[in-house]
Amino acid sequence: MPSIIDVRHLEKKFGDLVVLDDINFSVSQGEVIAIIGSSGGGKSTLLRCLNLLESPTSGEIFFEGKNILASQSNVNRLREKMGMVFQQFNLFENYNVLDNCILAQKLVLKRSRSLSQEIALKNLDKVGLHDRAKFKVFQLSGGQKQRAAIARALCMEPEVMLFDEPTSALDPEMVDEVLGVIQKLASEGMTMLIVTHEMNFALNVATRLLMLDQGKIVFDGTPKQAIETIDNQRLQSFINPKIKKK
Ligand SMILES: Nc1ncnc2c1ncn2[C@@H]1O[C@H](COP(=O)(O)OP(=O)(O)OP(=O)(O)O)[C@@H](O)[C@H]1O
Ligand SMILES: [Mg+2]
Repeated sequence: MPSIIDVRHLEKKFGDLVVLDDINFSVSQGEVIAIIGSSGGGKSTLLRCLNLLESPTSGEIFFEGKNILASQSNVNRLREKMGMVFQQFNLFENYNVLDNCILAQKLVLKRSRSLSQEIALKNLDKVGLHDRAKFKVFQLSGGQKQRAAIARALCMEPEVMLFDEPTSALDPEMVDEVLGVIQKLASEGMTMLIVTHEMNFALNVATRLLMLDQGKIVFDGTPKQAIETIDNQRLQSFINPKIKKK
């Protein structure tokens, strides 16, 4: 199967600090990749390089065969195709959920209000928030906000979804509702890269694990291979102890 993302010799430095060091991997259609690793290992920076929220210092990133670092590449087009969901939701708190989902469709994709609304409601339904469409974001729970953020990203009809610790800011009782939505997307074949400290989720839902340590990929394989080859203590040491284990 052709890869949808190819990362070659990616390096990112902040000043003299090497945060990503010769990163190489490819992502095929439908893969669900959990990116794990200790704090400061470069996980967020890697996701941010993929959709050019950070500019790599060197190396190449190909998305659907096109070099996204080439001067003529279209960053906005790229970001439409790679939806991103952040730990802190990044929704407009004073807008209602529906308008949060409609805004970029109208501005960026130039869709009509009625088409944008139709697509928004379809995606709100998918994340179980159809009945919250007219609620302002500040009236939602954390889990609902994160599901709204996922719906908003889906409205752009991305090829790939990037998640940076989507459940880390949530109260424990809301983690499952968000992971459930991500699991549903996985079962529908969505290609996803998910930075997570939720080990159960990584081992059970991801098709592949990438482990980052001090800017290098130190493991790339299936969850089964991870369990077989990595010492359990080391595996656990990459998981943030502050996150509740299920
Ligand atoms: N804008 C920046 N300027 C300078 N240094 C940065 C910047 N962003 C990140 N870093 C540094 O790069 C390193 C990797 O950060 P990154 O946020 O990618 O790690 P992470 O694996 O996502 O960690 P965490 O699990 O805590 O979220 C850290 O040492 C961090 O301090
Ligand atoms: Mg991070």
